[in-house]
Amino acid sequence: MSKTIAILTGGGDAPGLNAVIRAAVKTAVLHYGDRVLGIPDGYDGLVKGIASQPLDVASVAGLLYRGGTILGTSNRGDPFHYPVEEGGIIVKKDLSGVLLARLKELAADALIVIGGDGSLTIARDLHSLGAPIVGVPKTIDNDISATDVTFGFNTAIATATDALDKLHTTAESHHRVMVLEVMGRDTGWIALHSGLAGGADVILIPEIPFAYEAMCDRIIWRRSHGRKFSIIVVAEGAHPAGGTPVVQETAAQTHGLARLGGIGYSVGEEIRGRLGLEVRVTVLGHIQRGGTPCVYDRLLATRLGCEAVHLVHQEEFGHMVALRGNRIIAVPLAMAVGRPKKVDPQDQLVRTAEVTGICMGR
Ligand code: F6P
Repeated sequence: MSKTIAILTGGGDAPGLNAVIRAAVKTAVLHYGDRVLGIPDGYDGLVKGIASQPLDVASVAGLLYRGGTILGTSNRGDPFHYPVEEGGIIVKKDLSGVLLARLKELAADALIVIGGDGSLTIARDLHSLGAPIVGVPKTIDNDISATDVTFGFNTAIATATDALDKLHTTAESHHRVMVLEVMGRDTGWIALHSGLAGGADVILIPEIPFAYEAMCDRIIWRRSHGRKFSIIVVAEGAHPAGGTPVVQETAAQTHGLARLGGIGYSVGEEIRGRLGLEVRVTVLGHIQRGGTPCVYDRLLATRLGCEAVHLVHQEEFGHMVALRGNRIIAVPLAMAVGRPKKVDPQDQLVRTAEVTGICMGR
């Protein structure tokens, strides 16, 4: 039986979102004869009642390789804690009822939510109120534990590795220490993978609080062996042992998660001060989130979008699609969210880094 399926993208964008939308629309329309409605700007679009956008096969043409999301997204519109101005101050209100009513108005049989841990936690809670929801995990950070890999991650590490390749040539020419700050929130997946692939000398991740002595020793050792330059990759959430991450905006200021960033400059300053070397810092920022998804991400996104629609037709609501090994499976949202996947300090990749001479800050 054909259905009406609403679809939204929530949280930060990631390369491959459009490929998921495309695959979901094609599967829904061509295979099941469904009607698909695109919800603008994540949950915000439902709470604010912004007009939905009918999505047919023609409207998703050319999306496979396009970065961003044609639906728009937002990481500030949690319907359970929605910021509303009252008497000149911002108060948080539970507007989940408004959202559920809007879904009814649209006559949606299902809502597909493509999002990271935050959006999928909201999806879990909406499902417990009766909303027919299927989730699709996304994030460049790769920090969702129920899936082996999230789409967006491989494109992000390719971008970060490319940046490291470019920093190498200039570092070598000027005999400088180059610091590259990458994203990843509270996890070090992007730093670890790109640092290994890009031949970094030091990799700093949140899961291994670092000691400045260790990285300085590494830089001095390299210089004593004729390697006058060094490359440091630091994850935005990394921090010295006993310290805390550098925050640009607190959770209270963003009405959501704290915005990290700036540890690259602290590391650069400290090394300059301790070793008297020339240091330059690059913060890669949102370049990691933009651009064309790589082949791996296009394939993963396509498989997830297609399977999400199958789940809708099997009425497996309250589940998200996930990659396990080489198969896409369904995982209950209740078991998938709120447990970020972190780098194990004893992980084989960490050991590979250390035995090949990379300093992990310890
Ligand atoms: O979760 C993806 C991510 O890019 C993180 O790596 C980063 O900390 C955060 O989003 C940045 O968010 P914003 O786009 O709000 O600055």
